[in-house]
Amino acid sequence: MKYTFALIGIWLLSFSGLAQELISPNQDLKMKFSLDENGTPVYQLYYKNEEVIKPSKLGLELKDDDLSLMNSFKIVDTNTSTYDNTWEPVWGEQAEIRNHYNELAVTLNQPEKDRKIIIRFRMFNEGLGFRYEFPEQKNLVYFVIKEEHTQFAMTGDHTAFWIPGDYDSQEYDYTTSKLSEISSKFDGALSHNESQEQFSKTGVQTSLMMKTEDGLFINLHEAALKEYSLMNLNLNEKNFVFESWLTPDVLGNKGFLQAPNTSPWRTIMVSDDATDILASNMTLNLNEPNVIEDTSFIKPMKYVGVWWEMITGKSAWNYTDDLPSVKVGETDFTKAKPNGRHAANTEHVKEYIDFASEHGFDGVLVEGWNQGWEDWYGHSKDFVFDFVTPYPDFDVEEIHDYAASKNVKMIMHHETSGAIRNYERHMDSAYAFMNKYDYPAVKSGYVGNIIPRGEHHYGQWAINHFLYAVKKAADYKVMVNAHEAVRPTGLRRTYPNLIANESARGTEFQAFGGNKPNHVTILPFTRLIGGPMDYTPGIFEMDISKLNPDNNSHVNSTIANQLALYVTMYSPLQMAADLIENYKRFPDAFQFIKDVAIDWEESKYLEAEPGQYITVARKAKGTNNWFVGNVNGTTPRTTKIKLDFLEKGKKYTATIYADAEDAHYKTNPQAYKITTKTVTRRTKLKLDSAPGGGFAISIIEKK
Ligand code: NOJ
Ligand code: CA
Repeated sequence: MKYTFALIGIWLLSFSGLAQELISPNQDLKMKFSLDENGTPVYQLYYKNEEVIKPSKLGLELKDDDLSLMNSFKIVDTNTSTYDNTWEPVWGEQAEIRNHYNELAVTLNQPEKDRKIIIRFRMFNEGLGFRYEFPEQKNLVYFVIKEEHTQFAMTGDHTAFWIPGDYDSQEYDYTTSKLSEISSKFDGALSHNESQEQFSKTGVQTSLMMKTEDGLFINLHEAALKEYSLMNLNLNEKNFVFESWLTPDVLGNKGFLQAPNTSPWRTIMVSDDATDILASNMTLNLNEPNVIEDTSFIKPMKYVGVWWEMITGKSAWNYTDDLPSVKVGETDFTKAKPNGRHAANTEHVKEYIDFASEHGFDGVLVEGWNQGWEDWYGHSKDFVFDFVTPYPDFDVEEIHDYAASKNVKMIMHHETSGAIRNYERHMDSAYAFMNKYDYPAVKSGYVGNIIPRGEHHYGQWAINHFLYAVKKAADYKVMVNAHEAVRPTGLRRTYPNLIANESARGTEFQAFGGNKPNHVTILPFTRLIGGPMDYTPGIFEMDISKLNPDNNSHVNSTIANQLALYVTMYSPLQMAADLIENYKRFPDAFQFIKDVAIDWEESKYLEAEPGQYITVARKAKGTNNWFVGNVNGTTPRTTKIKLDFLEKGKKYTATIYADAEDAHYKTNPQAYKITTKTVTRRTKLKLDSAPGGGFAISIIEKK
């Protein structure tokens, strides 16, 4: 379905310096491309005839290359085409996705070096994607990127929702500020516990969400990041020009490429309605189609786990406190003194299996099951884990049999401690072990500095590893949920066994001091643009000192807000993260977590304002049931929604889980009220959300 037409006459004219134009299928967006007087590529973007990106330069600086791929270009060819197709994701926010864009591919030549690149632009209704392509040729074979110089020139001092530029972590709270305030607020934004390397005090991460004074929403990100380093953005505060800043390797190089090859796509989404940004499939559409032939092993999962108790400090990952150094597989743990706090023991795991089975959960995650946690900070960190040797109190065989008898799947945990080569060395045996004991999914983790030392989580080397792990997992029919890996850029279209990532500040930080109450009204506009997040919602006890007297963290969220997250934070992998005992205290609220779907036919983004509120309705795949979620920032708010997305002539039972009148994320987070009523597509609802609150609704068809 690809139509190529060479408009030779028109394009020839533009070779002589006139700008080329590319317009979105709905005509809202227009891009102009030209070469400036130095032969440097320049683009400019308009939305409804208003400039949103001022003339911005494109190019790459190469190492040991006097000319680089930055100027002295001539246009040798241009090609336009239109693409319109619909595809079906293995899982997702909707059953069908339309991929509709107009394309302009400009071939540029540097006569001096006799070498060429292509800049390919794709214009969707909601935004522009473009990338550099390096075709096979004699004079450009191997090259090293010193820096990419892609500019995004903003038209004014927009409001931005940003986190500090960092090569190793995205686990920050968002700061909302004017662009001109980034440097002055930068140190305050560095809330992070671990010391991470910042490249600049005006450096921020993508996906970057902005709002202009005229109410336009702009989002900058990238798509299909592979075999390349991750792009951060560095702001020039004088003129509001963002420029790409790639993550370096240990030597300071930013990418090793061999032609033929391409850069990832750089993306700019624009709309005057924030819900368009949430509804966009542009990032996915810029990725290649699924390459996994047999996808029968890929299934969305709702799970519980032996996890929150370690995160809160109530119990421990390690079996003993006594071993200063262990050799995995060789240490005789039967002689070690147990610390009595090791949660991953057979009896306790069985309680979780029973609970999962009783309440219809698909899986149980267990962390701290394998040897090595004692040596986390050991000098021999390169060999900490082998991913196949359990502690003496974790009986893999027995747990496997018990889970199978209860129709529950176990979820594997591979904490690599950042020792990537160690993980790669053990990967085949680790995945084979999972196959043997019937673990369909692995949560992997990359806490701490990458080993080899000096490499970064977001450098090309680690990025190659993250994808290698996903591809290898596919060979073993394993699904991957990687924590602390590079933030997603839509690769799940190509590799749908990548079912989730963390790559942002998740619920765990609610036990490390707390998240901002409006955090979850920003994440869908930023981190989730690239793919689903294993946010691990469902916390009902907000006072963490009740779990661990030494931890006085507070979960900044109401129970109704926690329920809404299952709808607003899309993921095919959803955890009910709290302890069993806390769910037993609130069985009526827990019912929503049991009922909510994890795979969807259709999604409707009803209203949204980054930092303030998001309301989403989704229809469960293969049913007529809908689930609605609203998360609210710090200002109390009333939402009016029309249920006009329901089917004509049908009646439904709506169960509404809302904040009680006096609910508040800080002072009264457990105050909720549940009401039930019959609804149709003509029903209108008026619902109040508390500060840090929200509501969740299940709408079940009456048969
Ligand atoms: C950080 C992860 O985000 C968390 O979920 C996990 O429990 C710990 N690392 C330990 O691996
Ligand atoms: Ca983490």
